[in-house]
Amino acid sequence: MVKVALAGLGFMGKMHLGIYLNKLEGVEVAALCDVNNGALNIKSLDAGGNIETDGAEIDLSGIRKYPDYKEMLKDGGFDFVDICLPTYLHADAAVDAMDAGFHVFCEKPMAISVKEAERIVDKVHETGKLFSVGQCLRYWPAYTEIKRLIDSGKYGKVRYAEFARFSMTPTWTRDNWILDGRLSGNAALDLHIHDVDMILFLFGKPEGLKSNGIAEKDGSISHITTLYQYRDKVVTSSGGWICSGSFGFNMRAMYILEKATVELDFSRNPVVMVYPGEGEKYPLPLAEGDGYYYELRNFAENVAAGSFSGTVTPESALESVRVCFAEIDSAKRNKETRI
Ligand SMILES: NC(=O)c1ccc[n+]([C@@H]2O[C@H](COP(=O)([O-])OP(=O)(O)OC[C@H]3O[C@@H](n4cnc5c(N)ncnc54)[C@H](O)[C@@H]3O)[C@@H](O)[C@H]2O)c1
Repeated sequence: MVKVALAGLGFMGKMHLGIYLNKLEGVEVAALCDVNNGALNIKSLDAGGNIETDGAEIDLSGIRKYPDYKEMLKDGGFDFVDICLPTYLHADAAVDAMDAGFHVFCEKPMAISVKEAERIVDKVHETGKLFSVGQCLRYWPAYTEIKRLIDSGKYGKVRYAEFARFSMTPTWTRDNWILDGRLSGNAALDLHIHDVDMILFLFGKPEGLKSNGIAEKDGSISHITTLYQYRDKVVTSSGGWICSGSFGFNMRAMYILEKATVELDFSRNPVVMVYPGEGEKYPLPLAEGDGYYYELRNFAENVAAGSFSGTVTPESALESVRVCFAEIDSAKRNKETRI
C-alpha cells in the first residue's frame, strides 16, 4: 500500500481525491492539507470546474487534516505528496516536500515561471526523489491511442496537425487566483500548456514559433494561437478561456497523415474518428477512463516500485513551461521566437 498526502482540495484536488478514494487500488490517503477548513471537511466530491468530478459522497473522518502544509510534511507518515495547490505555490511546495524526503506528483503547469520550474528540476536531481507533473494528455486514452496510431506508421507521416482547447472563463478557483496572470500565467500557460505538452510529446521541439494572443489588462494572455515551425509538417494550436459560460469546455485536434485523417472532438461520441484514404471511416477504440486516473495510477505504481517509468519527466514538464513562455514572448513582441 502506497500512502499519499494531498495538498489543495479545490477543483483538481477533489478530482484526485475521488480517484484515490474510489477508483485506484493500492493507494491510501494518509493526510489532507488546505488553508480552507471547509475544504478539509467536504462531504461530497462535487467541485464545479470545467470537467465533471464524480459528485460522490465521501467520508474523510479517518484522515489526518492540516491547514498548514509544512506541519503536514513535518508529521509525515506518507510516501508521496500530491500538489493540487494554485500554480504560484507549486515550486515551494514541491521543493519543501522533496527536502522533507517525499516523492512528488505536482499538478500542471509545473511552476509559474521557467526559473521556478528549473528550481524543481535541480531539487529532483539533488534529492533523487521521484517527481512527475499532471500533464494528463500523455495519459488520456484519446490522445495516447492517436499517438500509438501515428507511431505505428500505418498511415504514413503526419503532414498537418491542429490542436484546440476552448473554455468558458474559470470562476471556480479560490479567491479567483486563476484570473490573476501573475499567479496562474493566465490561459496561455494554465490551459494551453496541455496542447503544448502533447505537441512536444508527438513531434519534439519545434525550431521556432509565432504566436498571437488576446491580452488582458494585466498584460497576461487569455487566448493564444501559435504556429510551430517544423521542417516536415505544419502544426498549429489555439487555446484560451474567453468563451461564453454557456459554451462550457471542449478539446479538439485534427491530424492529417499521408494516408488518413484523424479527428478528435470531445463534444462528440465517438470522440476519435479515423478517415482512411482507402476503406471506410471508423471510430478509434479507446480504453475507459481519463488521463487523471492513468497518470496517478502510473505515479503510485512508480512510488511502490521505487523507480520512475512514466512519460512525464521533470525535464519534459520543464520544456513545456519553456515553450509556453516562448509563445507568450512571441505574442507580446508580435515576432517569431526561435527555440
Ligand atoms: N490537469 C488539469 O486538467 C487541471 C485542471 C484544473 C486545474 N489544474 C491545476 O491544478 C491546480 C489547482 O487548481 P484548482 O482549479 O484546483 O484551484 P482551486 O482554487 O479550486 O484549488 C486550490 C486549493 O488550494 C487551497 N490553497 C490555497 N493556498 C493554500 C496553501 N498555502 N496551503 C494549503 N492549501 C492552499 C485552496 O484553499 C483551494 O482549496 C492549478 O495548478 C491548476 O492549474 C489542472
